[in-house]
Amino acid sequence: MDTSPPCIEPLPVDFPGRAKFIDRIDASVALREPRAVTSALRHALSELIRDAEIVLPAQVHAPIVEHYARRELYRSPQHGYSVVAMTWGPGQGTPLHDHSGLWCVEGVWQGELDITQFELVEQQHERYRFLAAGGLHAGCGSAGSLIPPHEYHTIRNGSRDAIAISLHVYQAPLESCSRFAPQEGDWFVRECVTMRTDDCVPTASAA
Ligand SMILES: [Fe+2]
Repeated sequence: MDTSPPCIEPLPVDFPGRAKFIDRIDASVALREPRAVTSALRHALSELIRDAEIVLPAQVHAPIVEHYARRELYRSPQHGYSVVAMTWGPGQGTPLHDHSGLWCVEGVWQGELDITQFELVEQQHERYRFLAAGGLHAGCGSAGSLIPPHEYHTIRNGSRDAIAISLHVYQAPLESCSRFAPQEGDWFVRECVTMRTDDCVPTASAA
């Protein structure tokens, strides 16, 4: 969905509170069972968002005009998860998409986001029929999770003038996913998309 160059081998990104941030996520992911992990991560993200010791890199606050920004902050060599910060300009959002079968926990770090979940009710080859399964207006400090097969959704910053920032903890780096272009009625056509990340702000000091 993004057009900027990919970060093939991301370098460490440093920021105040990084060690505490990673420790909390590590402790949650170490639970292993997806429902336990995502429940713990929702709680952890909600607390980390309110923790004044955690200061995300300045670049995370910079929206990109052409598309929402997607910047990877961390990949866990031990647990395999990936943390991505997304920056949403006013009105920016995603098409309907999946997460390639990976669980994900998403927390709103700044601003507000509209999240709509969809359920797959029918499939004919590359044609998929979805029904909206509930919407959520997520405020700052809130966190939600997606556990396959309930992974189809859209995200949008509905504000006319404020950016929004969200953090996404993926089970593993999301290298590709499916997005669904609307056709007639409830039907969509699947497209495979290679995910890309924007500038990663590497620093030599981060371990
Ligand atoms: Fe998503």
